[in-house]
Amino acid sequence: MTATGQDTPLAGRVVAVTGASKGIGWAVTQALTARGARVIAGARDVSGLSLDGAEFHPLDVTDEASVAAFAGAAVRAGVAALVNNAGVGSFQPIEEITLAEYHRVMDTNVLGTLLVTRALIGHFRERHARGGGSQVVNVTSDVSARTFANGALYTASKYAQRALTQALAAEGQGYGLRVTEIRPGMVDTFFAGSVQGAEHKAEWLRPADVADAVLYALTAPPHARIDEVLLHPVVQEVAF
Ligand SMILES: NC(=O)c1ccc[n+]([C@@H]2O[C@H](COP(=O)([O-])OP(=O)(O)OC[C@H]3O[C@@H](n4cnc5c(N)ncnc54)[C@H](OP(=O)(O)O)[C@@H]3O)[C@@H](O)[C@H]2O)c1
Repeated sequence: MTATGQDTPLAGRVVAVTGASKGIGWAVTQALTARGARVIAGARDVSGLSLDGAEFHPLDVTDEASVAAFAGAAVRAGVAALVNNAGVGSFQPIEEITLAEYHRVMDTNVLGTLLVTRALIGHFRERHARGGGSQVVNVTSDVSARTFANGALYTASKYAQRALTQALAAEGQGYGLRVTEIRPGMVDTFFAGSVQGAEHKAEWLRPADVADAVLYALTAPPHARIDEVLLHPVVQEVAF
């Protein structure tokens, strides 16, 4: 990267980012645009959002029509990479999980990842046919491969998102798609209705730390595939 940050593999690349309105997705959008990428950014509420280099679109990842409109905008812009980041959290014992909460979490985290990815695969195949590569980066969680009390619903969704990620990597190898799973530990965002900047989160990861991991995956040289990045704040217990 040059001192200006413009002459990078990201300059001029088009990247679609879901859940881009706040938290990690907002930090990813900021980091990408700062390096000259053009971001097609989606979230349900994008009112009042603006950032040089980013185009904000209303997107509900659980809604097929909404996903189709978002994917259409991304394809028209020439999207080369997708960051599936939209997600919600919910923590309670199994006997308190309602059907509505089950659907909210699973539909957003699992179905959402599936729908947005599926909507772009035809385009990624066409890019491959023209000699171009594509990338998908899925922001899952450190708990996409381990669980804990009160974490059944959230971790089930993240295990499933990890499975989707790994199957996509295997399928996508045939059409030049490189797939990365980003597994952050505790990050100071608005996640699960929390407040960004709350005192108890002072030593957690910052959204920009996760954005750096996404950039690492997206700037890997074409011969390298970053399969997975697991990152934690040092205050979090060591676990894999
Ligand atoms: N914070 C953590 O400690 C942590 C740790 C590991 C992994 N993660 C993962 O990181 C990702 C981002 O979370 P965050 O911490 O940045 O949370 P956040 O601050 O609450 O941001 C979540 C983003 O997702 C969007 N979103 C939610 N439901 C959506 C839907 N149906 N369609 C489209 N966009 C939707 C939200 O915007 P709208 O509400 O306007 O749609 C928002 O932009 C999630 O997948 C989460 O599981 C978070």
